[in-house]
Amino acid sequence: MLKAVIFDLDGVITDTAHLHFLAWRSVAQEMGITFDEAFNEQLKGISRMDSLLRILRHGGKEGMFSDKQCLALASKKNERYVQSLASLTQQSVLPGIGKVLAEIRAANVKIGLASVSLNAPKILHALGIHQAFDYCVDASRIVCSKPDPEIFLTACAGLHVHPEQAIGIEDAVAGVEAINAAGMLSVGIGADLKHAGLQLHSTRELTWKCLTDFWASRSE
Ligand code: BG6
Ligand code: MG
Repeated sequence: MLKAVIFDLDGVITDTAHLHFLAWRSVAQEMGITFDEAFNEQLKGISRMDSLLRILRHGGKEGMFSDKQCLALASKKNERYVQSLASLTQQSVLPGIGKVLAEIRAANVKIGLASVSLNAPKILHALGIHQAFDYCVDASRIVCSKPDPEIFLTACAGLHVHPEQAIGIEDAVAGVEAINAAGMLSVGIGADLKHAGLQLHSTRELTWKCLTDFWASRSE
């Protein structure tokens, strides 16, 4: 029986995935590193410091900065990213998300959040939907980032459900890998997520009917 649905935040609940991209791109450009949205796919679901290391490797600058310099670069990116969050309002929740959250709640199924973003609590408040979640896990509560299953397993434990009783929803390759590794059913939003149990093009398609049909098809 389906007992919980656990959501990623950036790129699933709201379009902050694009804001992360813009902030990293501006910091990278100042170091003479360019990257496009295709490369940015590799940064989705990846922690702040791991993202920086991937960008430095991509630009051929791996190992050229001290730990202190890396921390300063990550802080600079976060300052720009947080500035861009000022544009978030209740209207910034992606299409279909408000409705599906209400449908899940009405069905008495628990709702969790599994985001590796340290900014997750701030974003949920800016969107005005923090009360929709029964349990939230962010980077401050875990050791291993996605694709490790730790964050989804921690969310299941906090919701008091077994991973086999839960669906996870993600927009990142690493995130879908984390859900699958946790032993949950995975829903991928967007392109190139063929390893998801169910792949949807957009959050508009994410309805309670779609989730329950998917669940029924896997429990037969
Ligand atoms: C994830 C994003 O949700 O959070 C990543 O997909 C981001 O792109 C990560 O690097 C960490 O976010 P923050 O807000 O702690 O820098
Ligand atoms: Mg995401």
